[in-house]
Amino acid sequence: MNFVTGNVKTELSSANGFICLKQVSKSYLEGETRRAVLRDTSLCIAKEQFVAVLGKSGAGKTTLLNLISGIDRVDSGEISINGLSLTALTDHESTLFRRKNIGFIFQFFNLIPTLTVWENVVMPLELNGLCNEAGRKVAEALLREVGLFDRKRTYPDRLSGGEQQRVSIARALVHDPMLVLADEPTGNLDEETGDAIMVLLNRMTRQRGKNLILVTHSAEAARAADQVYELHEGRLTLREGSWA
Ligand SMILES: Nc1ncnc2c1ncn2[C@@H]1O[C@H](COP(=O)(O)OP(=O)(O)OP(=O)(O)O)[C@@H](O)[C@H]1O
Ligand SMILES: [Mg+2]
Repeated sequence: MNFVTGNVKTELSSANGFICLKQVSKSYLEGETRRAVLRDTSLCIAKEQFVAVLGKSGAGKTTLLNLISGIDRVDSGEISINGLSLTALTDHESTLFRRKNIGFIFQFFNLIPTLTVWENVVMPLELNGLCNEAGRKVAEALLREVGLFDRKRTYPDRLSGGEQQRVSIARALVHDPMLVLADEPTGNLDEETGDAIMVLLNRMTRQRGKNLILVTHSAEAARAADQVYELHEGRLTLREGSWA
């Protein structure tokens, strides 16, 4: 299995790897001063696990996801998925890796407003050259599973927040990524809708054997995770009572 493209030499042995951060540091320059966001922190996630990272606003949760997805670069340390060093990839390889292997879910849904529900869901297929009959069948099945196939011609602004997030879940899974990254996915929803979204996200990622990494300030949203970490002062620590 090749995780990047057909012409990159990083061949890997199996599709379900694990995710490892080794002594990762990241800081941002703020005027003259350097502000450390992650300090020499490590994390290892077994394949198919759901890991939640809890942290306050500004703790570095989004930064962490941006590093794992290769949107941003570490200052030092290494991030690898199933033995493939993401930190060694070029920007172009990193973009291809992300497009193929990662699904994203965001607080503000990030659906494209000028595209219909259907067009939003098939977008990752289009980007990966997979929008063929088989791909469209997967998109249809996912939209049915989140209960929104009958709204496929609707535009996102006609949907409630919970409905938009259900579309986002379908979009995050349509290209069969190995890893789903969720950044505060319930942060813009009422409690009941947020709970329903987490039930759906947990079920749909587990059924498909995906890794799910959720970052949130909500312990409630993290309830179904296999492990819960806390991100505090740049370090990740396993929460007591959360089994590794
Ligand atoms: N591109 C950047 N340039 C400079 N500083 C940044 C950048 N991205 C993040 N930061 C800083 O890094 C720190 C962590 O930000 P981050 O967005 O990761 O926090 P967060 O835990 O996701 O917060 P929230 O819960 O509010 O979304 C913040 O102090 C932020 O200002
Ligand atoms: Mg954030």
